[in-house]
Amino acid sequence: MALTPQQQAYLTSMGVTVWADQSAPDIVQPAPVTSDSVSPTPVAGFGGNPGASKTPSLNLDITSLDWTDLADMVSTCTACDLHTGRTQAVFGVGNQHADLLIVGEAPGAEEDRHGEPFVGRAGQLLNEMLRAIGLQRESVYIANILKCRPPNNRDPKPEEAEQCVAYLYQQIALLKPKLIVAVGRIAAQRLLKTDTALSKLRSKVHVLAETQTPFVVTYHPAYLLRAPLEKRKAWQDLLFVKKTLASTQ
Ligand code: URA
Repeated sequence: MALTPQQQAYLTSMGVTVWADQSAPDIVQPAPVTSDSVSPTPVAGFGGNPGASKTPSLNLDITSLDWTDLADMVSTCTACDLHTGRTQAVFGVGNQHADLLIVGEAPGAEEDRHGEPFVGRAGQLLNEMLRAIGLQRESVYIANILKCRPPNNRDPKPEEAEQCVAYLYQQIALLKPKLIVAVGRIAAQRLLKTDTALSKLRSKVHVLAETQTPFVVTYHPAYLLRAPLEKRKAWQDLLFVKKTLASTQ
């Protein structure tokens, strides 16, 4: 694929200098959407299992909530212990009519302070990654599995994700994205309900069982900051995202 000067500039800012010509032949073409990695059973509400649309400890059906009511509910949520340590809940940000939803793991310290996902260093890299495929941060929607910051940036506990993921499902139901991109192992494995390694989940279109939304995965930008050589693979993933998105139009 020939890179535009703008793409080349963004790749350089991502720390990648020589990928384009080498990586393009390796791109896996988007397969037709399959449900091989997850149960295809639809969920009521957006229609299928109501359990997916409740935070277990609150046991409330949230499938009728609009963006405003959902955000209000998240901002006062006490469904798990994480609420005790938060500055504020981090609901999500972006275009509520976006075709693309980016899902990360959980807010970090800066996100907790600002009330917005991906505003720290990882967020800056995420912005560059989006720009590299011609997308502005403002044109997509960005959310996390957890809405509250885990202490010391530890991994989410399964029970915390269990409580919180219902909010994300309702965000997806409202947004109706054409494609979801999970960044990082935690978001990918939690949403696909698998413990398959992230490297094996890449380059393939999965389906999010609860909403039947096409779903792809890539590396977390925080991981890419620690392992810059992996940015080559992330670039392949980004091209795959772009192609998959184009094929859904
Ligand atoms: N990492 C995430 O997964 N989400 C954020 O919002 C910030 C960092």
